[in-house]
Amino acid sequence: KKVVLAYSGGLDTSIILKWLQTTYDAEVVTFTADLGQGEELEPARKKAEMMGCREIYVEDLRETFVKDYVFPMMRANALYEGVYLLGTSIARPLIAKRQIEIAHETGADAVAHGATGKGNDQVRFELGYAALDPTIRVIAPWRDWEFKSRTDLIEFAKLNQIPVTKDKEGEAPFSVDANLLHSSSEGKVLENPAEAPPSIVFQRTVSPEEAPDKPTIIEIGFKAGDAVSIDGQAMSPATLLAALNDLGRDNGIGRLDLVENRFVGMKSRGIYETPGGTILHVAHRAMESITLDRGAMHLKDELMPRYAELIYNGFWFSPEREMLQAAIDCSQKEVEGTVRLKLYKGNVIVMGRESKKSLYSEAIVTFEDDAGAYDQKDAVGFIHLNALRLKLLAQRNKRG
Ligand code: ARG
Ligand code: SIN
Repeated sequence: KKVVLAYSGGLDTSIILKWLQTTYDAEVVTFTADLGQGEELEPARKKAEMMGCREIYVEDLRETFVKDYVFPMMRANALYEGVYLLGTSIARPLIAKRQIEIAHETGADAVAHGATGKGNDQVRFELGYAALDPTIRVIAPWRDWEFKSRTDLIEFAKLNQIPVTKDKEGEAPFSVDANLLHSSSEGKVLENPAEAPPSIVFQRTVSPEEAPDKPTIIEIGFKAGDAVSIDGQAMSPATLLAALNDLGRDNGIGRLDLVENRFVGMKSRGIYETPGGTILHVAHRAMESITLDRGAMHLKDELMPRYAELIYNGFWFSPEREMLQAAIDCSQKEVEGTVRLKLYKGNVIVMGRESKKSLYSEAIVTFEDDAGAYDQKDAVGFIHLNALRLKLLAQRNKRG
């Protein structure tokens, strides 16, 4: 039996690796992806080698991640429950896809992941697997193994010579997930939603209070709904997002403390940091504000919560997500131009927007003499007919 494990190199997935070997006598193929989490990946390779793995995949997927997952989602202005930019949700389908491809390359008959049985991530991984290979076997050790507590896990690790590093002052969150789009932290000190997060939780932004007193002005260029440049300098998707992360970090942008509804039915509290994504979200809406027609924009805004929920719930590889994506992409053809922004103490403030494809007409909207560009008398009939049914209703109310 051969299993492809989504392996971070951390303690939990190292325990899982060992557990798969001892419980199933399985040959484990490890897959470690660089999604921009900002960690060295070579240690993961070393550890896998030390545990006797012969097929070890370590891959830099940053460009694919941003170009084919983050950017399409950004075109939709997707937010879950009004605020969450879906940084973890959008990474899972890509990991699942590569795992299945690697399973096929190596002749493995199963895939495994390190998500618990309580969360969203198990659903996202496994819906991805199902959509891409309906016959693959799935192993989710967190749901299956005999360990009842953290202590049991640590004991197993020690027994099997897996190095255990003590967490910083016992204060660190239990579960952290990071990639180029965000970092998220859940568990331990964060489990009481009445308590503010300790500053140790934040890893990729300074606090707004500590951010410079002087604002930073930037200009983002867009083409077909995607950001393509900063201050006139063209950049690849991953390079651009990384640059925005730096700008966001320095200016305390993109912190979020959220109690959200997990797909499995429970509420959970998380701390998110999405510096570059927050800047992109604001910039993209500003770009659309002058280039999108009202009908297209409002329909898009209606579809957005549905689209965001599909991604949150793990249905990236579904016909309905693809249908919505096609509609969203279709709306983006003329979303191009530049947006100027001020970054200041946690705020992203739009300063200006410009586009050759702009639908904004100063000649028509002006409060000054419009030289006949618009006839104000046209509004009379427009209002009369819109008022007609309201008047009929009011008359009925008056009659009683
Ligand atoms: N609650 C977020 C989501 O469902 C993040 C989950 C993963 N985060 C983590 N710390 N393990 O998308
Ligand atoms: C987990 O349960 O593994 C992390 C949280 C989540 O998936 O929602």
